[in-house]
Amino acid sequence: MNFELTEEQIMIRQAARDFAQTELKPGVIERDEHQKFPAEQVKMLGELGFLGMMVSPKYGGSGMDAISYVLAMEELSKIDASASVVVSVNNSLVCYGLEKYGNDFQKEKYLVPLAKGEKIGAFCLSEPEAGSDATSQKTTAVDMGDHYLLNGVKNWITNGNSASTYLVIAQTHPEKRHHGINALIVEKGMEGFEVGAKENKLGIRGSDTHSLMFTDVKVPKENRIGDDGFGFKFAMNTLEGGRIGIAAQALGIASGAYELALNYSKERKAFGKTIADLQATQFKLADMATEIEAARLLCLKAAWLKDQGQPYAQASSMAKLFASEVAMRTTVEAVQIHGGYGFVKEYHVERLMRDAKITQIYEGTSEIQRIVISREVLK
Ligand code: CAA
Repeated sequence: MNFELTEEQIMIRQAARDFAQTELKPGVIERDEHQKFPAEQVKMLGELGFLGMMVSPKYGGSGMDAISYVLAMEELSKIDASASVVVSVNNSLVCYGLEKYGNDFQKEKYLVPLAKGEKIGAFCLSEPEAGSDATSQKTTAVDMGDHYLLNGVKNWITNGNSASTYLVIAQTHPEKRHHGINALIVEKGMEGFEVGAKENKLGIRGSDTHSLMFTDVKVPKENRIGDDGFGFKFAMNTLEGGRIGIAAQALGIASGAYELALNYSKERKAFGKTIADLQATQFKLADMATEIEAARLLCLKAAWLKDQGQPYAQASSMAKLFASEVAMRTTVEAVQIHGGYGFVKEYHVERLMRDAKITQIYEGTSEIQRIVISREVLK
């Protein structure tokens, strides 16, 4: 077993760390407060190759491995989870799905600009009445011969307004249940496609989350990904990799909060010494460091399995379940270590605590991860 990173992986981690410090940190509090999408920063991330990290250079990507992706996601998420979710969704849910299952036409037309970061993608599975219960799709894609007629509503869509390319999951043959579902590539600007109001959220407030409305949108048949009825498998398979990205995001939120708490504890004085000299603080830091290291190893293991071409559904769900719970516990403790200062925005930890919560919810709640894991272990 080799725990050493390659030189390239170390370089990518450093590049993400530097970018987070110089480009994401200034303005992160303001973006959170005003729900401002980090448009400039996302553009730069695209130029640096972070939006198509694992896509082959043949399609405009950076050709990196999933380990590098985890390392970059951790570093970006330490500072700005609203920016890192754009990186995660674009890489894992959109580019990955198109590269693995798209045809040559779809790759040329849609994947290349997404991988280069010239455009942003969104993954549209959730509906007002189909979140965890993802097979219950109410959005319909009626087969009209040369096109599908798309009708319905999608909810809580990350990159809802900033995206140009949307992968939309919809039901074509309700009698076939999940075997009748299709995944369609929808472009912003198609007639009948409307972006709803921005959600006013607890956390990741810089990320633009919207509902989407489709009314008789004509989607050409050539925009269907895979065979007729492949859409649900497409969504599930894509989410396996997405969960590695969100696990790494949760890891970054946790390690960001931990680093802030660690530094603060060495500076803050109480009872005539630093609070780092108090065992109450030391034990908290010890628990945080241990849990974060365990979460990091789960993330890297899932990424390694993916890089090796081995099954990783269970590993990615374990990583997401554990890392997101660690993110929640760690950020709550980081606020506690900061005391009153932790409760105000300038110290960053309250934002990380709010951001942590979504990692237990999106791309499959903690409960869904337990379903996936228990099904695997009981196989
Ligand atoms: N890969 C491929 N196929 C899979 C799969 C996988 N990982 N997991 C399940 N499937 C297939 C099953 O084999 C089955 O097909 P067959 O009938 O042909 O065997 C089909 O999918 C249905 O599976 P189940 O019978 O297990 O369905 P279920 O309803 O009992 O459970 C579920 C499925 C795992 C709970 C699933 O609905 C699920 O993952 N729900 C959560 C959805 C989710 O993660 N949503 C996140 C939204 S995206 C998001 O948050 C993005 C963002 O913006 C950040």
